[in-house]
Formats: sequence, structure tokens, C-alpha cells
Amino acid sequence: MNNMAAIETLNIDERNRQAAEILRTNDRGGYNIPTAGLYPYQWNWDSAFAAWGWSEIDISRAWRELETLFKGQWSTGMVPHIIFHEVDEGYFPGPDVWGTHKTPQTSGITQPPVAATIARKIYEKAPQAGRASVEQLFKPMMDWHRWFIEQRGESGAIAITHPWESGRDNALDWEAAAQSIDISNVGDYTRRDTSHVNPEMRPRKIDYDRYLALVYLGRDVGWDESKIRELSPFRVADVGMTFILLRACRDLAWLAGEIGESRVEIDGWIAHLEAGCAQLWNEELGCYDSMDLKTGKLSGTKSVASFLCWYAGVDPKSTKTSLERVLELAPFSLPSLDPASSRFDPKRYWLGPTWPVVNSIVGLGLAEQGEAELAERLRKDTFEMILQTGFYEYFNPMTAAGEGGNNFTWTAAVWLAWVTKGPAS
Ligand code: DGY
Repeated sequence: MNNMAAIETLNIDERNRQAAEILRTNDRGGYNIPTAGLYPYQWNWDSAFAAWGWSEIDISRAWRELETLFKGQWSTGMVPHIIFHEVDEGYFPGPDVWGTHKTPQTSGITQPPVAATIARKIYEKAPQAGRASVEQLFKPMMDWHRWFIEQRGESGAIAITHPWESGRDNALDWEAAAQSIDISNVGDYTRRDTSHVNPEMRPRKIDYDRYLALVYLGRDVGWDESKIRELSPFRVADVGMTFILLRACRDLAWLAGEIGESRVEIDGWIAHLEAGCAQLWNEELGCYDSMDLKTGKLSGTKSVASFLCWYAGVDPKSTKTSLERVLELAPFSLPSLDPASSRFDPKRYWLGPTWPVVNSIVGLGLAEQGEAELAERLRKDTFEMILQTGFYEYFNPMTAAGEGGNNFTWTAAVWLAWVTKGPAS
């Protein structure tokens, strides 16, 4: 081994140790917070990725993470985006603002359903050890997916009723749709996120005003989905949510086979979603896109979620050309927004930074669909960024500088479960 290779191996060992340490430090007893300070509760999709990371260290702890997540499930089937197990004043808006009156306390909206996909990944690592957990989680996962189809699937694609549901809060995909949100009743409030992280790396005040206006709207109608559909100005078919649910349905159908359950209903959802995806194809843009369901208009945004088509197993048409063009413009890794966009900002959350967690699922999809070279490129780029810089929430795709929160659970998790494993992991 030459000197450089020896130093690299040393660094990898150190990063492996740190990643495991981050999972342990962010463990609050059966669930992980994303990072102390900025995100002090259990977040839905963060938690599923945490489970993937845990499965590299402790399989039973991995299953416990998913089981704890589903303890927050509503009787409607919805799995909330935040579960407020223990109140922490460092986060706003807390449970009192959401006013959902659930036990445990939760927010009133959901987040991308990666759980079934992660459950399959964990199960595949140790089928015997996982069988009982899959049997226990199967019905809750079915109920959640059915809720998506029934409450949010009217267009075929999956609608979000709040930008936070997408997990890509300030993505350009819904900028036009969000302009119709009335913020006149929002009043004064104190953000907490900008006391933890540089404000340049977070959504703007106007974005937060809109986020809060939608929380108040939901709360005022008791989080009743049909009333929200009727009264809210914001309803967007999110390409990311749609692809992630479609993929999760395929994995849930596979798990059904493993435990001897029927997949007939799930196959119906898969067909429904596949037809819905077709409507999101934006020929001019050369990729799938999000659609404002109030106007029927595609957003015209090439965001990282467009590149989840491989992960969803949807015909990527000419999306490969789009992906290659976007990668050419960002030296360090896949940006969350096309750098050619006039709104591209390499620091601001989902308007440009590259996110290891999203790279992991885009990369998985590419590898599965025979795009080995692109998949490997994504994995290696992500590897280098984390190796050199550490476990940040996201990174600047032009400089590889770490951004957002540090010691981040899902970055540590995907380092352990994907980045260091190889393209097909
Ligand atoms: C936040 O508070 O920034 C979150 O993204 C909401 O889920």
C-alpha cells in the first residue's frame, strides 16, 4: 500500500467509527433525532434512513427504529412527519402549534414513505431475524400506503399539502404554487432554525411565513384531509413523493411475498402510480416534474427528485441526458437543483446543495437499472465529500464545503449502508 492509500484507509476507519458514534449519540432510546439542536425530534424519513444505518451495526435496533416510527401512526393510516416524543424548546413549530392532540404528540402532515424500502433492505440482511418485525409492520405500512392513494392520489401522482411533506422544503418545484398562499394571518414568530445554522443555508422568511400559514390552515380544520383539499390553495403532485411511494409499493409487494400475504391490492396501487407518473413527464425539460394540481401546470423545474425515476423503476426516457448535463455543471456531486436555473444557490437548502441521503437512493436506482457508471460516480463523489469534510446534512456541490447541520444521522447512516458498500448495495 502506498502512503496516500494508507492515509485514506486510516481516514475511512476513522469515518466509520464517527458514523457509528453519531448514530449512538443521536439515539434517544429506540429512535434517532436527525441532529441535536436543529432537529431534536423523530422525523419520519430521517428515521427510516437511520434504521438503514443501524442495520450495519445492530439489526434489532434497526427494526426498533421503524417500530417506534409507526407508534406515531394515526388511525387514518397517515404516518406523521414529526413525532414529538419529548418537548424541546429549541425547535419551532412545536406540538402546541400543530395542535393535533395525538398521543404521542405529532405534526399533522406526512413525509416521503421510504420505510417499506428500508424494511426490505434490513430484512434482506437477516431474513430470519427480521420476519417477526416485517409481520408486525406489514399492516401499518399497508395502511399508510393506502392512505396516500386514497387521500392524495386523485391525479394518479401523489399530492403534497405542505412543502414540508416533500422533505425538500424550499424546492423550486412549488415556488409558483406557494405564491397563492395567504400569509396575512401569520403574525410574529421566532424561528429557531436560524439560531442553529447560517440563515443563508436555510429557507427564506417568506418561505417560513407560507409554511406556517399552511400549518394554521390544517390546524383550523382539525387536520381533516377532505377539508384541506377543499380549502387549501396549495396542492402539488410531487414527483419525489410519487417516485418514492411507487418504489415503496414495489418493495412492500415483495415483502408480502416473503411473509405469505396477498399483493393484489398493492399491485393496483403500482398500476395507479405508474399511470400517474406518465402525466408528470415534461418533454421540454427532458425529465419528470412536479405539477400544481390547482392549475394543472408542470413546474418546469429540473430538481434532484426528477432523478428518482430509476429508483421508482419508471421508464427514464431521456432523463439520462438531463442527469448528465446537471452533473457536468456541478463538480462535486448531484445538486438538488439544476445549476443552469436562475434560482440555483449552492448554499440554500434544496435550491442547490447536494444531499448524500438523496444521492444514495438515486444511486441505488441507477445501479439497479444498469447505469453502473453513473451510479458509481455518484457514490464516489459522495464518498469523497464525506471523507474530506465529515457528516454534514448537505454539501456545496461547487466547493464540497459542508453545510446545514453537522453530525447528521442520515449522512452517517448512508455512509455506513451505501457510500462505503458499493454501487449495488
Ligand atoms: C424544518 O423544520 O426545517 C423541517 O424541514 C420541517 O420538517
